[in-house]
Amino acid sequence: MVNTPHETTQTRCALQTASLDVETIRSDFPIFRRRFKGRPLAYLDNAATSQKPSCVIEALQDFYSNHNANIHRGVYDISEEATEAYERTRSVVSDFVGVKDETQLIFTRNTTESINLVAMTWGRANVRKGDKILLTMLEHHSNIVPWQMLAGEKGAKVEYVSLNEDGELEVSDFKEKIQGARVFAFGHVSNVLGTINPARYLVKEAKNEGAMVLVDGAQSVPHMQVKIEELGCDFYAFSAHKMLGPTGVGVLYGRRELLEEMPPFLTGGDMISQVHEHSVSWNVLPWKFEAGTSNIADVVAFSAAINYLKRIGMEKIRRHETEMTKQILELLETLHGIRLYGPRNLEVRGGIVPFNVEGVHPHDVASVLSTEGVAVRSGNHCAQPLHESLSLDATVRASPYLYNTDDDAVRLVEGVKKAQRLMKI
Ligand SMILES: Cc1ncc(COP(=O)(O)O)c(C=O)c1O
Repeated sequence: MVNTPHETTQTRCALQTASLDVETIRSDFPIFRRRFKGRPLAYLDNAATSQKPSCVIEALQDFYSNHNANIHRGVYDISEEATEAYERTRSVVSDFVGVKDETQLIFTRNTTESINLVAMTWGRANVRKGDKILLTMLEHHSNIVPWQMLAGEKGAKVEYVSLNEDGELEVSDFKEKIQGARVFAFGHVSNVLGTINPARYLVKEAKNEGAMVLVDGAQSVPHMQVKIEELGCDFYAFSAHKMLGPTGVGVLYGRRELLEEMPPFLTGGDMISQVHEHSVSWNVLPWKFEAGTSNIADVVAFSAAINYLKRIGMEKIRRHETEMTKQILELLETLHGIRLYGPRNLEVRGGIVPFNVEGVHPHDVASVLSTEGVAVRSGNHCAQPLHESLSLDATVRASPYLYNTDDDAVRLVEGVKKAQRLMKI
């Protein structure tokens, strides 16, 4: 068995020493003022979506109260203010994820739409019959189904890089399968096992083989410092709602040459330059890919989320999540009948803890936890092929973020004990 090379770069953040002031952070999130049986919510479903700080909620309210207008069109004050605020977010995002030319960043609805955009535009124009689309066994359905659809349409084939026992990519299998691949699309961090893939290495090898490379960053950008251009990939996708931002905003980074060549995704207003009765020309980047009225208020408020994360510091956030993960794993290990999944090496693992309780269905575990005000996810987490490869139907998943406390970890484990007691395990 060959392990994936362990990167020591920003793609696998080194553990830092300074810790977070979690109580102050929590006071910025109104949802933690709610009480469940007299206690605050122990929210451990951050891989699904994150909670929102007051600054994001206030940015939304401020936009609708003071600046609401459509963008890119009006010449009156509030339209210009709205346009400026919307475009400012693009600069804030580009600085945050290390993209020099912000016109290579397109606002979509979410990661799913970003990946669909690539499969349906670049993919339709470039993938041919018999081509190989390489994915990994770790993928979320959002990074599987668009490629399956494309493969079905074009007569291409989809293959998957297998995993080792620790839930890391099997490098020898990757090296073999990347040969001749037209597309390589992989998740930077797995939403089920937490595996942090060695993105730089994978991108470099795939580019050497001439593949187009897309990285699904839905679980990386919210949790660690990512500098997209340093990775050298062609496309990179992520969602605002998993990083303290509003729902309904996704980002797609694309290399300029590719975005220029690609046909548009959705067509209509704003994405055009000229429309005549029988002809049309496209707007310049990035607007060529932003058809119709955008999700203006949510994009504007996304800036507040990024600025909040920057103020705290991504290295500290990564460090805190690693400590939380360690603590949850150690506490769960003290119980009998617990099955844990994912890499044991915390340097190559994000803040995600999937587990099963012998004799108790994952949905029952999650339901009992809910009675204690502990929110976790159960099911296949939109990664059914991964679960099938592990011979599992479902798992329970606890995924901490910057606002989780030691008490949340203890309450999780007490809740699991309660589930075992109720089921007489
Ligand atoms: C790895 C990964 N990719 C893609 C997605 C899809 O994200 P969204 O629902 O924001 O499109 C998720 C969501 O959980 C994810 O974890």
